[in-house]
Parts: sequence; structure tokens; C-alpha cells
Amino acid sequence: MADDLYIGLMSGTSLDGIDAALVQLNGDQATVLDSLCVSLPVQLKDEIKFLVNPAEQEINRLMTLDIQLGKLFAQTANQLLEKTATKKEQVIAIGSHGQTIRHWPTAEHASTLQIADPNIIAEQTGITTVADFRRRDMAAGGQGAPLVPAFHEKLFRDKTKNRVILNLGGIANVTLLAADPGIPVTGFDTGPANTLMNHWIGQQQNKSYDENGKWAASGKVDDAFLTHLLDDDYFQLSPPKSTGTEYFNAHWFAQKLGAFPSLAAEDVQACLAAFTVKSITDTISHYPADEIIVCGGGVHNSFILQLLKEYMPAVTVNSSEAYGLNPDYIEATAFAWLAKQTMEHKPGNLPEVTGAKRKVILGGIYYK
Ligand SMILES: Nc1ncnc2c1ncn2[C@@H]1O[C@H](COP(=O)(O)OP(=O)(O)OP(=O)(O)O)[C@@H](O)[C@H]1O
Ligand SMILES: [Mg+2]
Repeated sequence: MADDLYIGLMSGTSLDGIDAALVQLNGDQATVLDSLCVSLPVQLKDEIKFLVNPAEQEINRLMTLDIQLGKLFAQTANQLLEKTATKKEQVIAIGSHGQTIRHWPTAEHASTLQIADPNIIAEQTGITTVADFRRRDMAAGGQGAPLVPAFHEKLFRDKTKNRVILNLGGIANVTLLAADPGIPVTGFDTGPANTLMNHWIGQQQNKSYDENGKWAASGKVDDAFLTHLLDDDYFQLSPPKSTGTEYFNAHWFAQKLGAFPSLAAEDVQACLAAFTVKSITDTISHYPADEIIVCGGGVHNSFILQLLKEYMPAVTVNSSEAYGLNPDYIEATAFAWLAKQTMEHKPGNLPEVTGAKRKVILGGIYYK
């Protein structure tokens, strides 16, 4: 088809909304033509939060939520078509990440589950939909995550600079792109990015996130609490590794905070921001980075960016915006690209990143 248009749909662990990007993919070029984010209604958000932990009636509720989210994902894609006056016939495929409900990369029976029924998306948009990207990588022995590094490599690999692509979502993940083309890409989750800060400001001030990191910036970083937060086996693991909010969650945080009952609330928030940054800079300290390119919602947290520059003074820190790519839609764009790979019978995973035994074509195709 002439237009080479794809749509990427993504809802991350922060539950802030469904991101949709209309993307033109031409060779190694990715151009985001337009994008939008549809908020998750409170009822659906609560249902996702309920289902991420084992509970009674969970299969019944999961089946319902799968359909509800499928409809909302379809609606989001249709809204983007309408906004951009794009006909469904112009779009080759939708790549839908779905919503992660469980991610067990290291369990004996390793498994991961993303929902938002792609049958509904294909039916209600009239566009072929690719979904369920992670499980084929797991079937090939990988962790099913992260999947965005292959796309980061296409977009950002540079011949002169060692780059780090840092995505600050609910969880933080990095992609290390060495200037030397002979060095394979590395990518892994470093730990929490926004999820614990969102949780703490929600509990203390009933807000969904710390706008610009203003509250965190008003507090003081307590070194002892920061060290205590960093004391977790996950940070010692070598890649490949991936994690999620099943592990770094309210329960994990409550246990940590229990040992420091008298810290002021804003100091706790400052520590959580410092924890996010330190867990990233510690894990990549061996890597001779020249530049960090930041994307994901956390790029809007000035306190986080300030700490990043403080902890890595020799490294240039830029938003992906500096490269013409809206930092809020890189993940959605990556899933548009992964859909193209699948439609063209090309693999989407990087075995050196996920730990899979081989490259595989990811996802299931739901035809229009
Ligand atoms: N203006 C802002 N100031 C501070 N933080 C912000 C701002 N805007 C967004 N954020 C943070 O970014 C989060 C959303 O980021 P994003 O959508 O990249 O994460 P996600 O949906 O969880 O994706 P992932 O799958 O990568 O974890 C919000 O929950 C919030 O914590
Ligand atoms: Mg999001």
C-alpha cells in the first residue's frame, strides 16, 4: 500500500491511558503523523488493579475486562483515524500491546498476559490487528521483554556516540546502543520509574502523579533510606532481566518504609525520585555513555532529570523531542513498528536482550 501507515496502541503499567500513534514506516524511517491518549475510566483502572493480583472470580472478571479494554482500544484507534481524517483502508495494521495483567519472566512455567481482545479491535476498526507480542519470545526461552530495544536501535543507533535510551514509564527500561556496530544491543528493565512515586502521592495527596516532580523537589533525599531502597536482589541481577508492578508495588514499598517511620512525606517522595535515578545510573555505570535520550512520561519530571544530570555529570541528557520524536509516544510507535515486522514475516525480538534462543516473528495476526 502506498501510505505505509500503521497504528500503535499501548497502555502501560502507570494506567494513565491508552496511547495511540499513527505512524508512517518507510525503511528505517518512522514518522509519527499524529497521536492521542485516551484516559482509562476509573472503573476499568480499578479492575486492572484488582486483577494484577490473584483473587477469587478472577477468570470471570478477566474475561469481561478483556472485552471492555478491546472495545476501548478499538475506540481509541477509531478516534485517531477520525482526528487525522485517515481512512481505515490506508492503515496496513494496528500493533496493540494491550494491558499487562501478569508478567512472570522467571517462573518455572514462565508466562505473561496482555489483554484487550484483538478480535474486537480488528472487528471494530476494520483494520488487521497484531497483538500478543510477548509470549512467542517467552516460548523461545526469552523473558518476553523488553521488546522496544530493536526499535530503539533502528531509530537511535549512532556511529560516533554511545547512547542510552531511557524509558521512564511505570517501570524504567534502558537500551544501550554502542557506537561500535559490532557490539550487540543490550536492554533491560532497571526497576521502578514512576510507579512508586505515583503510589505515594496518591496515598498522601490523592493525586495521580507528582506534576513536574515539584513535590519531590521540595523534599530532602535521606541517604539511609535511599540505600535501604536500593537493597534488593533485583538490582544485582545481570541482564537479561525484566520486572513489573507485581514486584515493585505498594506491598514492597510498605515493607521498605516500615523501617523508616519518621521520614517526612515529601522526603519520602524525594527519596523515591532519587531511587529511580540511582537504580538506573548504578546499573549502567560500567557503560561508557556519551548521551542519554529520555522518553516516557517521566521525562516531564524535572526533578528526575535534574538528578540524572547530577549523578552522571559527564553525560548529555536529552528528551527524545530533541530528535523530533514525541517522548510520550515512542512505545506506541514501537508497537506499530513491531506490527510491521510481523506483517512482513520478520522477527521483532532481540535474543541478546530478552534471552530468547533465537529471533522469532512475534504476535498473532487478527485479519480485518
Ligand atoms: N507532567 C508530568 N510531571 C511528572 N510526571 C509525569 C508528568 N506527565 C506524566 N508523568 C508520569 O509519567 C507516567 C506515565 O508515563 P508512561 O505513559 O510513559 O508510562 P506507562 O504508561 O506506565 O508505560 P510503561 O509501560 O513504559 O511503564 C505518569 O503516571 C506520571 O507518573
Ligand atoms: Mg502510559
